[in-house]
Amino acid sequence: MKMDQRVFDDLDALSRAALAELQRIAREAVRERGRFAIALAGGRTPAKLYSLWAQTDAKAAGAAWDRVHLFWGDERYVDHDDLLSNYRMTREALLSRVAIPAENVHPMPTDCASPDNCAAQYEADLRKFFGDKPPAFDLQLLGLGPEGHTASLFPGSAAMEEQVRWVMAVEAAATPHQRLTLTPVVLNQGRNTWFLVAGADKRQIVQALRDQDEGTRGTSPYPAARLQPAGNVAWFLDRAAL
Ligand code: 6PG
Repeated sequence: MKMDQRVFDDLDALSRAALAELQRIAREAVRERGRFAIALAGGRTPAKLYSLWAQTDAKAAGAAWDRVHLFWGDERYVDHDDLLSNYRMTREALLSRVAIPAENVHPMPTDCASPDNCAAQYEADLRKFFGDKPPAFDLQLLGLGPEGHTASLFPGSAAMEEQVRWVMAVEAAATPHQRLTLTPVVLNQGRNTWFLVAGADKRQIVQALRDQDEGTRGTSPYPAARLQPAGNVAWFLDRAAL
């Protein structure tokens, strides 16, 4: 499939370039719409970008923190203090170090009666913020799992086929099993979508995606290929992943 690729020597270089571009998009979003709404990725790869972002002062950050709204593309269904929590990773790398107003931070809840309840609650939060049309994030950050999952959309997951719900609870063959994820109803809207991919363990799946025929993306086993957001899509790769 066609991939708009940006290749960097290592994760550090990748993260620095991503931050500069994030700042540009943030400035533009604030200028045009008064705020910058970003959906964050989990896993390990984006932590470097988040901590670099935390080190830039408010002016250089592209948008004052009170104009930045942080959402999550997916979350592991664990306590926010759990070591596996995507929220916790972001809190440690970014939130605890910057003056972002608490009301601008929109984590996926993980303390409801059930994961389905939490998914419904997050969708209600999104609707309250964005209105009733599926939102187009100014920027959505995504990762890539070795089997082609992205956000918490895994191969074979019913969430890939979802056409109504914005957020779903899913069970995946990964640790932890129980997760919440934005569905393609939202993820296919993004104004800017980046896949952040680093490390040799991603080489095989990156190759498989490059080999994926453009015409058969709709039936690909890999959610990362099936997702086709409306706006710009870019792949930030380090050399090890190629
Ligand atoms: C998660 C994710 C997931 C992640 C990929 C890559 O919560 O697991 O958001 O989609 O982005 O698994 O993870 P790494 O960056 O740790 O390789």
